[in-house]
Amino acid sequence: MPARTSLVRVAVGLSAVAFGTVGCRGIPSEKPPIHLQQNMDFQQRFDPQEPNPMFEDGRAMRLPPEGTVPVGWLMEDDHLWRGRGPDGRLVDALPPGIKLDRKLLDRGQERFNIYCAPCHDHLGTGRGMATRRGGGFAVQPKNLHEPRLAAMPLGYFYKVITDGQGTMLSYAAQIPVEDRWAIAAWVRTLQASQRASASDVPEEARNRPVPKALAATRAPEGGAS
Ligand code: HEC
Repeated sequence: MPARTSLVRVAVGLSAVAFGTVGCRGIPSEKPPIHLQQNMDFQQRFDPQEPNPMFEDGRAMRLPPEGTVPVGWLMEDDHLWRGRGPDGRLVDALPPGIKLDRKLLDRGQERFNIYCAPCHDHLGTGRGMATRRGGGFAVQPKNLHEPRLAAMPLGYFYKVITDGQGTMLSYAAQIPVEDRWAIAAWVRTLQASQRASASDVPEEARNRPVPKALAATRAPEGGAS
């Protein structure tokens, strides 16, 4: 039936032209688009910092009730979670639940070498690989042996890992609480190692070669890089 076939062709052709001209006019509309599925897209709410006359202080953003303690910040765990004692000051000791032993220091060394050494190097002198690559740092990673930091309580290193400090970001998301203490203990160990004299080293260990990882972080001859 050729007649009908050509009729169909004409109809298809015409509707294509109609779509082309009407459907894609390319004229931006002032009207909001038709929003068929409303869900909860439009509802009354207060934006941040907006006033709310219902409250006496006129703020929509409410403060938590006085005495609110965030989950995990219970006062009895202040030492563990915040590195602070009952007087609110940073403590210079491990939390009671964490024992200072070889295992803790090994863990601390391992975690320090993973998370801190890229910037602070394996000894903590602040000349990690990241400082020598990719344009370096506007603010250099700190030398953890400088007198100000050597005098800091143990809790300070826990705090810096937890909260960050200056341009150094917090490592709280990557490093669990117990590991932060292990790293703090290792930082203390590194600090002690740099102030030790030959008599602090057991007789049989005095002539041991320097491990490769440490030898690589030594300052180049003739001063700092
Ligand atoms: C990406 C690089 C980088 C990494 C990784 C890093 N730091 Fe830092 N750190 C810095 C920089 C940069 C500073 C100096 C920040 C400033 O003074 O603004 C700093 C400063 C510090 C300070 C001195 C704070 C003070 O009072 O001046 C301590 C302590 C410290 N870092 C410990 C650590 C420990 C422990 C780790 C591992 C968990 C670590 N850092 C990982 C870059 C880094």
